[in-house]
Amino acid sequence: MGFPTHRPRRLRQTPALRRLVAETRLHPAELILPAFVREGLSEPSPIQAMPGVVQHTMDSLRRAAAEAAELGLGGIMLFGVPEERDAEGSASLDPEGVLNAGIRAVREEVGDSLVVMSDVCLDEFTDHGHCGVLDAEGRVDNDATLEIYGRMAVAQAEAGAHVLGPSGMMDGQVGVIRQALDAAGRQDVAILAYAAKYASPFYGPFREAVDSQLKGDRRTYQMDAANRREALVEVELDLEEGADMLMVKPAMSYLDILADVAAMSPVPVAAYQISGEYSMIEAAAANGWIDRRASILESVLGIRRAGANMVLTYWAPEIAGWLKES
Ligand code: PBG
Repeated sequence: MGFPTHRPRRLRQTPALRRLVAETRLHPAELILPAFVREGLSEPSPIQAMPGVVQHTMDSLRRAAAEAAELGLGGIMLFGVPEERDAEGSASLDPEGVLNAGIRAVREEVGDSLVVMSDVCLDEFTDHGHCGVLDAEGRVDNDATLEIYGRMAVAQAEAGAHVLGPSGMMDGQVGVIRQALDAAGRQDVAILAYAAKYASPFYGPFREAVDSQLKGDRRTYQMDAANRREALVEVELDLEEGADMLMVKPAMSYLDILADVAAMSPVPVAAYQISGEYSMIEAAAANGWIDRRASILESVLGIRRAGANMVLTYWAPEIAGWLKES
């Protein structure tokens, strides 16, 4: 019986050797912090289903953004939670509305030192909780929604967003937003297209984070978990329509999609480690079932290894702090 001549274990012997041959590394600049700002709050309000994450007041949002810039994070992705909702989500268009005010406050705080991104979607603003407006039969009306997205995008650009993240999965949304921005003279504002966004129960905790009014689901517009090829159709359309960057979402259950998109995309690719992915690890760690820090780092490293250039993660500041220590 011969002994092995090829011994991959040779390069695993010490931490220094493992560090030397590591193919993927984490860096704060590729982490993006999703943040919620809620109208009418006097104190930050904890999100029960996401231990450690809060709905911010305007002031605590400013502090979180300043800290993110200080830590060298790549960006912040803003979501607004308004007090008043209606069928058309009209608060999304108000220049003084909570999301637009949040964008403005964050830009005042961080200038250009952090990439300021914002969510272009109606679900936080509609009283029915869908990502678009409804037609007479109660179906999400694609083209009527596009018209609102275009105006919402211009309002967010005027508030100071560097990058817009259309997350509603309406057909044609990237093209309409690009046209609206260009017509408003905002050729400078980039689009991070949620190209392959799947309907997922792992968005559950986010519903609490934005006080979502949704009854039912988003399966007529978000993608079906069974499908892989379809992601490439979505990606090609978004690229044709002028996407500057692409996103795959959720991350954990869709690492094959992420690898596919990363292999063919000529533009940077982001992945969103969503609320349920966060909450699962927090819950298991709180029970002492897994090592919290090691699990967080492995989960984000896996997303990077699958091909994401950047990762949206609620742990962005904490990970950046750990990376500074090491
Ligand atoms: C839609 C939107 C959602 C998330 C980001 N943008 C909710 C959904 O599609 O149901 C989820 C993010 C997360 O779960 O962390 N505006």
